[in-house]
Amino acid sequence: MQSNNIKNSEIIKFYKKNQTQRLDIVRSFANLNDLEIQKLKQFNSLNFTCANRMIENVISIMPLPLGIATNFKINNIDYLIPMAIEEPSVIAAASSAAKIARKSGGFIASSTESLMIGQIQLTNVKDLSFAINQIEKNKKEILNQVNQCDSILISLNGGAKAIKYRIINTKKQTMLIIHLIVDVKDAMGANIVNTMVEKISPFLEKLTNSVSILKIISNLPVYRIAKSKAVWKKELISEKIIQRILDSYQLALHDPFRCATHNKGIMNGIDALAIATGNDFRAIEAGAHAFACLTNKYQPLTKYYLDENQNLVGEIEMPITAATIGGITQTHETAKICLKILNVKTSKELAQIMASLGLAQNFAALRALVTDGIQKNHMKLHSKNIAIAAGASEENVDAISNMMCKQNNISISNAKELIENYANK
Ligand code: MEV
Repeated sequence: MQSNNIKNSEIIKFYKKNQTQRLDIVRSFANLNDLEIQKLKQFNSLNFTCANRMIENVISIMPLPLGIATNFKINNIDYLIPMAIEEPSVIAAASSAAKIARKSGGFIASSTESLMIGQIQLTNVKDLSFAINQIEKNKKEILNQVNQCDSILISLNGGAKAIKYRIINTKKQTMLIIHLIVDVKDAMGANIVNTMVEKISPFLEKLTNSVSILKIISNLPVYRIAKSKAVWKKELISEKIIQRILDSYQLALHDPFRCATHNKGIMNGIDALAIATGNDFRAIEAGAHAFACLTNKYQPLTKYYLDENQNLVGEIEMPITAATIGGITQTHETAKICLKILNVKTSKELAQIMASLGLAQNFAALRALVTDGIQKNHMKLHSKNIAIAAGASEENVDAISNMMCKQNNISISNAKELIENYANK
């Protein structure tokens, strides 16, 4: 098998190729077999039995388009990135940001160990220092008990590693919140962490003479952080645009109304990759936005500044609970294929790709916003949806959407009028 570092994800005009040509490229890039190609080609990788095993009351499935972002080089490895998303422009934008970034070496990414937090809420605590003291004295025993929950995780050097405390004052009482810090390795971690905190809470109640209420994972995993950085050269994007991007970034820094949209653009990329790989994108979203206001002021997840040569440097830092095992990552056929396309070895590597994709997405959105605005391109791509919504048939959808673009009037009413004219021709 070809090793990843000699692969080239810079694929000229991928968007102009047909489905078979695109699949051929992905097949040879990722060494996909005939069955995998067939599954992708047939658009039917989730059958009723499989779906019915995942959730309750299944009646059908809700498919999303799966596309490929090209041009990504992250830590010197080329990646084709699968993205499941319904919004036009997102994949093209990420690919174009990655294309410029690779001219200066691509993305440099890193991530911490996969440490998740399990919370146990102890209420009616009579004596806080006695309670903390008791837990400290029995720490070894506590870690030992919870680590019996998953022998495979322990054999991989994962498992519960530490205990931390938070004291939360409410009107009614002061509560002691125990944080169990668990290295979940390549899993998302909710199952193992929740099992551990539920198991240990009766022991903690007894030790501390308290009543435990909530025992659940925290979706703000501040010890499971991914970072990425890229440089966009001034000669490739212009000094004027760089200045405008920096000005636009200032608005996100100082205004939560803009910052929410700024961060939403980042999550366009991260969520699309999370969905493609069968990851829990709601958990990643929750962590991202909670992290963004950890200082009590909602902040952008990225930052931008100039390097010594006046090039634009972008950085992202955020918690990412990416998994390469567990959940549906290995039971959903498409998720399995997407992980194979990425050829990721660990959840840490997947988190680094997500962070880099989020940064690329953010840069691309800012660049579009400070130049043409996003509507021009976006509406061009969206014009086909509008034509269909207005009643265009498969046969005339392209013609109607082209006419709307030419007239610079992309709307349902115009589409309806054009469809009528078309029919009467
Ligand atoms: C649209 O889905 C995302 C953007 O609004 C992000 C941004 O404004 O930075 C374009």
